[in-house]
Formats: sequence, structure tokens, C-alpha cells
Amino acid sequence: MNQIIDPFNRKITYLRVSVTDHCNYRCHYCREEDHVTHTKRSEVLSFEEIAKIVKLFAELGVTKVRLTGGEPLLRKDILDLTSMLGKIPGINDIPLSTNAHLLPSLATQLRKNGVNRANISIDSLNSKRFKEITRDGNLNTVIKGIDSAILAGMNPIKLNMVVMKGVNDDEIESMVEFAINRNLDIRFIETMPIGLAGIEAVDRHFSEKDILERVYKIYGDRLKTISSKQTDGPAKALHIEGTSTNVATISAVSNNFCESCNRVRLTAKGELILCLGQKDSVSLRDAVRSGMSDDDIKKLILNAITKKPEKHFFNSAIDNISSRQMVEIGG
Ligand code: GTP
Ligand code: 5AD
Ligand code: SF4
Repeated sequence: MNQIIDPFNRKITYLRVSVTDHCNYRCHYCREEDHVTHTKRSEVLSFEEIAKIVKLFAELGVTKVRLTGGEPLLRKDILDLTSMLGKIPGINDIPLSTNAHLLPSLATQLRKNGVNRANISIDSLNSKRFKEITRDGNLNTVIKGIDSAILAGMNPIKLNMVVMKGVNDDEIESMVEFAINRNLDIRFIETMPIGLAGIEAVDRHFSEKDILERVYKIYGDRLKTISSKQTDGPAKALHIEGTSTNVATISAVSNNFCESCNRVRLTAKGELILCLGQKDSVSLRDAVRSGMSDDDIKKLILNAITKKPEKHFFNSAIDNISSRQMVEIGG
């Protein structure tokens, strides 16, 4: 019992852990304006419970554990969790997905406590527009957060920009330039119709093809394809010669990259989700709290994996589609 392999022969080596479903931002495509979180403290996994579940996944071959949210840095004493995860044998990559608002004060200590790298959401370099997209976020603070992650030695740092037609698509070029100037990577993401907010936002779909056309116009033959093995996920990346920057697209709507899926998700409430858009879940919190043995929990995980679907469907007419907002899943 030492590997998680799903019915489509995909090896699961990556666990995305949402540590809170709260967020200090309210990005339009991620959560509805009036979305409030009612999760009670007692429903949320404790750090000990998260560490126990991660240890069991590590024994089953998981090597990478991403901390996500909501906004993971809102979770009180998050630094204690990162050091606990860093000590689990087999875990060698602990990246963070964050909006960076709280990074200025936390980056150095996070790096010391095992967070080797970060993916940072930034959808605009225009303060007013940034405020609108995030419903009150602060661009200056986020840029300070990015700079503190650089100073702390996190590497690579990948900027995530959800590209929306008529909202921020005119910033593709300036975002690449921003990334080059700071030696960072930039990933352009197609809006996914996940949860009500995502479904509403999809009207502003801006395709991978259109994104790449714009990038090629400027960087043309300086763009060199990077093999998908190196990106370890859905991102399709290009290196810009003469810089330290990779530009990538994550195009779940134009493409289906599920064939190479290597990940499952754990929500703050301890639900194991096998696919981003799927409603079904298995409660690992209940398993842990019921005093089940480690071996039995591992069997539960392996059994859950047999239900991992072959691919995601973004179609609300299909059974088993999730109504969770992205903010509850963590991307
Ligand atoms: P790396 O490990 O650095 O490659 O990061 P990542 O792309 O796995 O994580 P990140 O949190 O930065 O997610 C970037 C975007 O990819 C978000 O919009 C996620 O929702 C999306 N994404 C991540 N994993 C999946 C997946 O399995 N399926 C789909 N459809 N989208 C995903
Ligand atoms: N479509 C695509 N990406 C999304 N994210 C949040 N909601 C959506 C959506 N509907 C992204 C955020 C963050 C990452 C974790 O998920 O921008 O970068
Ligand atoms: Fe918060 Fe990230 Fe969702 Fe924006 S995309 S509301 S920053 S969880």
C-alpha cells in the first residue's frame, strides 16, 4: 500500500490543502460579493489533523503539498503548520498560493519554515482596477508582498493573472514586463466556471489562443517551449530567452489537460475532493476524528481515488458538478 494510482493510471503525488475558506479579498471570479463563510472553528481541521493526513498521503507517495485557501495566510499561526509539514518524511515541496496581502510581514519566516516557493495572484497593475477586481484589495501591499517573497529567497515565484476580456486583457504585455523586471514567472489563466462567481465571470472569457498571440507579437522567436514534465501540472510554459522569466497559460476551458492530472484536494473542513469541479467528497476529518487506524484511513484514501473522474466537465447540466465557490476549494 504505497502508491496512489487512479483508474486512469495517473499517479497522485500532489495534495492541495486549503487551510481556510476565508479570504481578505473578494475577486469577482472566485466568490460572490455577498458570499459569507459560515464554517465553524470546530468544523475546520486542526494543524495536528492536517499534519496527520499529510503524513498518510506522504506514505502513499505524495511529495508536494500546496497551502491554499481562501487566503492561507489568514489562518492564525500558519507558520506552525508549515514547520510541521516540513518535518514530514517524503514531503519535499511546500508551495503557497496566496494573494500576497499578508506576505510583507510573513515571507521571511515562511521561507525559514519550509515554504520554498509561492504562486501569487495579481490581475492588474493599475491600483484602481486592482481594487475593483478584488473588491477592495490593495495593489501596493501586494507588490510589497511580492518583493518580500523575492527577498526571502522563495524561488520560483509565479504570478497568476486571470485574464478577463474588457477588464484586464490590455495588461498582458505590461504584466510580462513586470515579471521580467523582477525575474519572476507569469501565468495567464482562463477563467473557469467553477461555483456561481466563476460561472458568472466566464462571460468575459479570454482564450489561451488570444493570450499567446499577444505574447508572440512581442517576444516571437525568443519563446522556447518548456517540457510539460518541468511544469508538473496544467500550465503550458514558454521560456523567454535572454530573461529568467517563463510565461505560461493555464487553459482549462480551451484545453483539457486532465490526462496528466497528478493532484487531489483537501478542503479546510477535511473533505477530500478528487477533481476541481466535482461535488463528491470523502470526509477525512470524520475518519481522523473517529479514531480510525492509519491503515484504515489510507485504505479510505485509496478507495476514494477509484472515484477520480477521467476529466473535468464545466457544464452545470452534468450530475455531480460542484456548487462550491473557488474560495472554498483554493483553486
Ligand atoms: P504549480 O505547482 O506551481 O504548477 O502550481 P499550480 O498551477 O498547481 O497551482 P496554483 O494554485 O497556482 O493554480 C493556478 C491555476 O491553476 C488556478 O486557477 C487553479 O485553479 C488552476 N488549477 C490548478 N490545478 C488544477 C486542476 O487540476 N484542474 C484545473 N482545471 N485547474 C487547475
Ligand atoms: N478561474 C480560474 N482561476 C481562478 N482562481 C480563482 N478562481 C478562479 C476561476 N474561477 C485562481 C486565483 C488564484 C488561484 C489559486 O486560483 O486567481 O491565482
Ligand atoms: Fe481570495 Fe484568491 Fe479568491 Fe481572490 S482568488 S477572492 S484572493 S481566494
